[in-house]
Amino acid sequence: MSLLEIEDLHVEAGGREILKGVSMKLEEGETCVLFGPNGSGKSTLLATIMGYGMTTVTSGKIFFKGKNITHMTVDQRAKLGIGMMMQRPPNVVGVTLGNLVAATAKNGKGTVGKEKEFKMQDFMDRDVNVGFSGGEIKRSELLQLAAQSPDFVMLDEPESGVDLENIGLIGRKVHELIYGSEEGEERTKEVSAFVITHTGQIMDYIGADKAFVLIHGKIAKEGDPQEILEDIKNNGYGVEDE
Ligand SMILES: Nc1ncnc2c1ncn2[C@@H]1O[C@H](COP(=O)(O)OP(=O)(O)OP(=O)(O)O)[C@@H](O)[C@H]1O
Ligand SMILES: [Mg+2]
Repeated sequence: MSLLEIEDLHVEAGGREILKGVSMKLEEGETCVLFGPNGSGKSTLLATIMGYGMTTVTSGKIFFKGKNITHMTVDQRAKLGIGMMMQRPPNVVGVTLGNLVAATAKNGKGTVGKEKEFKMQDFMDRDVNVGFSGGEIKRSELLQLAAQSPDFVMLDEPESGVDLENIGLIGRKVHELIYGSEEGEERTKEVSAFVITHTGQIMDYIGADKAFVLIHGKIAKEGDPQEILEDIKNNGYGVEDE
């Protein structure tokens, strides 16, 4: 049994079909990266796996740990061990980051008190994401994931918009989230991950086992992450606009 199994998934948003029959599998302990041109449906795919309500599944199924999660709530999926860093998370007015992290840790398996490690100690009394810069949002999202400690973590462009110094911090924290320890230290776990990246930079910090390329709402290619990244760098995606 695969950890995550998606069968012929069709998804609509705003009256348009965005995902047009996505099928894929991700195994326990595996890290997969997802490439694809802007607008191809990458964020939609991750949001649909997490159960964020912006999209409608019109057909197809999503299984996690053998359970059909297609119509479960976000909370139910989080309880099963799925966690996600969004590309552009919404502002949560009236909820401080400190309160959210505490609530997340209570429901999850992670710990609180890590804000300094994420350089977020001055943000804990602020409303979640309100006025946060792009890089601050990424660190805040990772801090929340550390509090949840999911068994399967999805990251939507964790390195985009992050300055060169903080990219090291993000990379190390993602490594810790997946392997339970810092780089070079003995690994205490191996959480599965599904990571969207345009540049592949995050792959310098985590090993990637396989890659998928999503084009026009369909998986166009699957294979070795480095080979696929090289191919995209050299030849682009080779697709016309729809
Ligand atoms: N609610 C909606 N109404 C209309 N179109 C939508 C809606 N949500 C998403 N889309 C469209 O679906 C397509 C896929 O969006 P998505 O955010 O999944 O792309 P992406 O592959 O993550 O792109 P990027 O690399 O730019 O982040 C886009 O063309 C987007 O405009
Ligand atoms: Mg996106």
